Amino acid sequence: MGKGLKITVIGGGSSYTPELIEGFIKRTAELPVEELYLVDIERGKEKLNITTELTKRMIAKVGLNTKVYQTLDRREAIKDSDFIITQIRVGGLKARASDERIPLKYNAIGQETTGAGGFAKALRTIPVILDICRDIEELAPKAWLINFTNPASIITEMVLRHTQVKVVGLCNVPIGMINNVAKILDVDSKRIRIDFAGLNHMVYGREIYLDGERVTSEVLTKLGEGASLTMKNIKDLQWDKDLIRSLGMLPCPYHRYFYMTDEMLEEEKNAGEGTRAEQVMEIEKELFKRYEDPNLQEKPPELEKRGGAYYSDAAVSLISAIYNDKGEIHTVNIRNNGAISGLADDVVVEVNAVVNREGLKPIAVGKLPIKIHGLVHAVKAYELLTVQAGISGDYEDALMALISHPLVPSIKAAKGILHDILYENKGYLPQFSKL
Ligand code: G6P
Repeated sequence: MGKGLKITVIGGGSSYTPELIEGFIKRTAELPVEELYLVDIERGKEKLNITTELTKRMIAKVGLNTKVYQTLDRREAIKDSDFIITQIRVGGLKARASDERIPLKYNAIGQETTGAGGFAKALRTIPVILDICRDIEELAPKAWLINFTNPASIITEMVLRHTQVKVVGLCNVPIGMINNVAKILDVDSKRIRIDFAGLNHMVYGREIYLDGERVTSEVLTKLGEGASLTMKNIKDLQWDKDLIRSLGMLPCPYHRYFYMTDEMLEEEKNAGEGTRAEQVMEIEKELFKRYEDPNLQEKPPELEKRGGAYYSDAAVSLISAIYNDKGEIHTVNIRNNGAISGLADDVVVEVNAVVNREGLKPIAVGKLPIKIHGLVHAVKAYELLTVQAGISGDYEDALMALISHPLVPSIKAAKGILHDILYENKGYLPQFSKL
C-alpha cells in the first residue's frame, strides 16, 4: 500500500451507505481514500444513483478529493481494490420478509440471521458471495474483503473454506454492546473494554472493564434490574435476573432468541407492525426520500432507526488498523486458530484480535465455560452444515442443517420450513435447481 486507497463497496445502493461514508470522512486524516467505487446490480440502480449522489455531496462538503464512482460493472470495481466491503441483501427486503414469515408457520423463530430465516438467507447469499470471491481472486488477490453480509458468521465461514480470499467478518453488535454498557454505567464508551468470545450474533462478554478495572458484576446486576441491552431491530424484552446472575457473563441482544424463545416467538407472531423486514421497508422509504434531498450533505439521524447503526465505526476503524499497522484490538469473525480451545482451529469465531497490516491474530480465551459451550458448539455445527448445503445444493444436507438448528423444534417443522424456503426462493437458489 502507500499510495491512495481504492475501496469498493458491493451493495453500494444500500441505505447503510451514508453510514459508511461518514466513517471514512471521520478518519480521513489516517485513511487516504483515493477512489471509492459503489457497485450494485441492475435492480438496485435507482437506489445506487441516490446513494452515490449523496456520497458525492457528503465528500464535497468536507472538501475531500476522493473520486467517487458508481457502476454496475462489479469486475471493473473490484480490479486492484485494496479493500472490498460486501453489504448485499440477495432478494432484497421482500425475500427477507418471506424468510421471517415462513418459520413462524411451524412455530420456529424467523429472525433473518439467528432464526431459521437466516438459513434461507444463507442459501441465497452463498452462491453470490462465492461469485464475488472468484472475481476478487482473479482481479484483486491482495485485497481484504470486509464482509457485513448476513448471516455474517456463515458467509465468512464459507469464504474461508471455499476461496483464497483474505476475509474478515464484521458486525456492529460488539460495538453496540460496548455503547450499551457505557450507557448503563453512564460513562464514555472509550473507557469500556469487553472480552468477547463466541460466534456472530452469539457472542458473550466474558469480562467487562472500565478504565482497566473489572466491572462485570456491577453491569450484570444493573442488567438484571432492568437496564436495557438491545439493538434497534430486537424487541427490548427485559432480561431474566436469575439467568443473568447464573450466566455471569454479558449476553448479546440476539441471545434472547435462545434464552427467551417462547416470548420472542410470541413477539414475532403478534408483531402488529409486521415483521422487521416490513418495518424496514417503511423506514427505507423515508430514508431514500431524505437522501434524495439535494440539500442533504450528511448522514441523516433517521438512519439510527436501523439495527446496523454505527456499523461504519466497526468497518472503517478496522480498515484503518490494517492499513496503518496499528496493532489495535478489534472484535472480528476470523478463523479460530486455537483462540477458543475445544472448537476446531479452522472454524470461524467472533473474538477479540490484534490487527496488523499482515493480518489478524485472535486473542486466546481458553475453554468456554460448560454453561455456554453446548449452545456455541450446536450453533457452530448448524453453521458448518449450512455452508455445506449452500454449496452442494443437496436436499439431505439442507435438511440436516435445519434440523440441527437449536431453534427448529422438530423434523416435521424442518421439512415444512425447507419445503417453503425452496419454493419461495426458486429464482435465487441455482445450486438447488436439480431438485
Ligand atoms: C443488527 C445486526 C446486523 C443486522 C441489522 C439489521 O444490528 O448486527 O447484522 O443486519 O441489525 O437491522 P435492520 O434495521 O435491517 O433490521
